[in-house]
Amino acid sequence: MTSVQNVIFQRRSTSKYQPDYVIDQETLAQLVSLAGYSPSAYNLQNWRFIAVTTPEAKAQLRVAAYGQPQVEAASATFIVCGQLAAHKALEQRLSKSVNTGVIPQSIADSWVGAASQSHEGNDQLQRDEAIRSASLAAMTLMLAAEEMGLATGAMGGFDGEQLKQHFPLNEDDLPVMLITIGKAAKGNWAQKARRPLKEILTVI
Ligand SMILES: Cc1cc2nc3c(=O)[nH]c(=O)nc-3n(C[C@H](O)[C@H](O)[C@H](O)COP(=O)(O)O)c2cc1C
Repeated sequence: MTSVQNVIFQRRSTSKYQPDYVIDQETLAQLVSLAGYSPSAYNLQNWRFIAVTTPEAKAQLRVAAYGQPQVEAASATFIVCGQLAAHKALEQRLSKSVNTGVIPQSIADSWVGAASQSHEGNDQLQRDEAIRSASLAAMTLMLAAEEMGLATGAMGGFDGEQLKQHFPLNEDDLPVMLITIGKAAKGNWAQKARRPLKEILTVI
C-alpha cells in the first residue's frame, strides 16, 4: 500500500484524547500550511482556520459544540471556516501564479471575471463554494495529521452563532467544521464499516 492509502485506512474519527498531550504551534501551522494546498474553484483558497488551544477558549468552544467533551480533551480544535465573497480577493490571490508564470494573465483575468459574475449577489453559490473548499481543506489537514501520528475528529455539531460571538471570525467567515486534533487515548472505535463499492460507484 502507498503511504496515502495507509493513512486513509488508518484514520478514524477520534473522540477520546490524551488530555495532557501538547501539539506545538509549529506543527499546527505546518498542518494548516499543508491544508492550504487543497484545490478550490478558480484557486479561490476561500478557507481560514482558527486553532483553539487555551483551556479557557476550549471551555468556551465546548459550550458552542453542545458540550461535546473531545473539544476540551484534544490538544487543539480547528474552527475551519469557508470564506464567503472570496471572489473579491481573487485577483490578488491569483497574482502570484501569474507572476511566477504558472498561468497567463489572460486566464487570471477571465477567471476573475467569471467568478465575479457568478458569485456577486449569489449567496447560495458563495455558501456552496465556501463549504466545498473548507471541506476539502479539512480532509487534507486530517490526512496530513494522520501521517504525523496525530488523531483527528471532524465535527458538525456546533452552534455557528456562538462561534461568531466568542471567536475571531470575520463577517465573511462561514464556520463549516470543527476538527479536533491530538494523541488518541484508549477507547476510540476503529474506523467504521463503509458501504460497498457497488452502492457508491456508477461508471457510465
Ligand atoms: C461533517 C461531519 C460532522 C460530524 N460531526 C460530529 C460531531 O459533531 N460529533 C462527533 O462525535 N462526531 C462527528 N462526526 C464524526 C462521524 O460520526 C464519523 O466521521 C463517522 O461516524 C465515521 O467514523 P470513522 O471515520 O471513524 O469511520 C462528524 C463527521 C463529519 C464528516
